[in-house]
This record gives sequence, C-alpha cells and structure tokens, in this order.
Amino acid sequence: MKIRTAVIPVAGKGTRFLPATKEIPKEMIPILTKPMIHYAVEEAVLSGIEQIVFVTSSGKTAIEDYFDRNIELETFLERAGKGELAESMKKLGSMIEVTSVRQKEQLGLGHAINCARDLIKDEAFAVILGDDLVRGSNPVTKQLIEISAKNNNSPVIGVMEVPKEDTNKYGIIDGEAINGSNKTYKMSKMVEKPNPDEAPTNLATPGRYILTQEIFKYLDEIPRGVGGEYQLTDAINAMAKNTSVYAHIFEGSRFDTGSITGYLNATVEFAMMDDQYKEIMLDICRENIKKYE
Ligand code: UTP
Repeated sequence: MKIRTAVIPVAGKGTRFLPATKEIPKEMIPILTKPMIHYAVEEAVLSGIEQIVFVTSSGKTAIEDYFDRNIELETFLERAGKGELAESMKKLGSMIEVTSVRQKEQLGLGHAINCARDLIKDEAFAVILGDDLVRGSNPVTKQLIEISAKNNNSPVIGVMEVPKEDTNKYGIIDGEAINGSNKTYKMSKMVEKPNPDEAPTNLATPGRYILTQEIFKYLDEIPRGVGGEYQLTDAINAMAKNTSVYAHIFEGSRFDTGSITGYLNATVEFAMMDDQYKEIMLDICRENIKKYE
C-alpha cells in the first residue's frame, strides 16, 4: 500500500530554544541555510510522500509560508540577475502539497497526531518529528515504508542503537528480531526512559513512525500519561498488544536538533559535510580549540 501522507507535528513550544522561540518557530531555526523543517520535508519528498500535514499552533504560520510560493521574492531575484536563486525558491514553493491543522492546546504528541486524522483520509501514514534530523543516503522514512510493505503493511517504528547508559533519555522498545534479520524486530512493548539496568534493549525511538489507521482507536482510548499529556508511546503500546508492530534499526546519523547540544552537533557536522563550508568550519574549530582548550 502506498504511503502518501506524512504528519509533521510542530505545535510544541520549543522551550529549550527560548528566547528565540518566543517569536520564531523552533522548526524555522536554520542549520546552515535551511531551516530544520526543510530537512524533514526533504526526507518526506525523497521517501515518495505526496502530502504533508503540519500540526501547528499559534505563531507557526512561518512554517506554512516557507513552503508556499513567494512570487514577489522570485520576481525580485530574477530582476536582480539571481535567476538560479529565483529558480530554487520556485522549486521550494512547489516542493510538495502542504496542509495544516491546529492543535489548540499542547496536550502531547499523541494528541497532536490525533488532530491530523481528518486530513489523512483512510490510509496508513508516516510521522516525522521535525526536530529529529536523520542524515544518510537512504531517507529513513523510505526505509520504514519498505519494512512496512514487507511485513503486511504493519506499523513500523524507526529505532537506533544507543549506549546502554543512555537508555533513560529515550523511549526504548522490547521485542524479538524477526526471522533472518538483525535489524527488524517484532515489538512487544515500549518503555519510557528506563534506567540502564531495567532497559529491555538499547533500541531507542527518536521520532520516525509508519502508522496505520488503527492507531486512532488507541489514541481515543488512552488516558493522559507522563506529564499529563496524551503520549503516542501509550497508544502504540496498547496497539502492540493486539496487532503486529515492528521496529527497524534505520541507517543514517540522527541529530536531536530540538536540544542545544544536538543542534550544535548538526550545525558542525552538516558544515563539515558540505564542500562549500568544510574548510571554513575546520578552521573555526582549530582556532577555537587553540583558544579555549
Ligand atoms: P518536544 O517536547 O521535543 O518539543 O516534542 P517542544 O515541546 O516543541 O520543545 P521543548 O521540549 O519545549 O523544547 C516533540 C515534537 O512533538 C511536537 C513538537 O512540536 C515537536 O516537534 N509536539 C509536542 C506537538 O506538536 N504537540 C504537542 O502537544 C507536543
């Protein structure tokens, strides 16, 4: 079954980036010249997704505007002899169909996904957290779509191996590797931030999912969980009791750009991997190491 839609929840307050996020959506903070959200949408496009549903809140219109055409800017750039830049702006504005829905109260990730249900039609869909970037030659959402297709169009959760001592920072899955695979697991449950000695595995869930319509039944049923919020983890756990849910160790480097450390890390690494900025970033790093080490 084709996965046509990706839900990208962006309604959070981004408190770790205050004061910047008082007026700018966290997702619009750039890594080099592209805002974080650009990388997430690019991943969706490269994964064959045709429609993005942003779950937004007040103060987030910049995200929708970013993926819209800006004819005035395009004309200005063309007149200024910057045709190539004008062309890339045009492309950006017609990259993908974007719709949005408001989450009026930030009641958690599970609640945010539930807000998008009327725009998803009657299909399976992807969820991409816009502040978790994964860099690699094979887009992570595409990898998960393929695993879902191979396993009866079941829900699939993207997971990554983390050091055992870090399990208390993540949702961790429990499960059994499926026949002949050391990357794909049949999930039995998910545990929120377990201590290393209680963690069933070291497979963490950083924010990539393929979900089926069934999830909405569980999102409707779950009570408020950790932090008084409706947790997607709780709904997936409930679903895994009755239906096959898979977890797949994806290929690619993941950056938690919703945190300052992850953001700095992504900025340095993305620059290092870019021909235009690599030498500049190396010089900056060398100079600063000399100065501050
Ligand atoms: P986070 O908790 O990491 O993001 O939620 P946040 O709330 O924006 O940031 P901090 O923690 O205050 O710094 C993960 C993702 O889920 C979305 C967020 O926008 C983010 O992309 N989210 C979270 C919602 O859309 N709605 C919610 O109610 C909660």
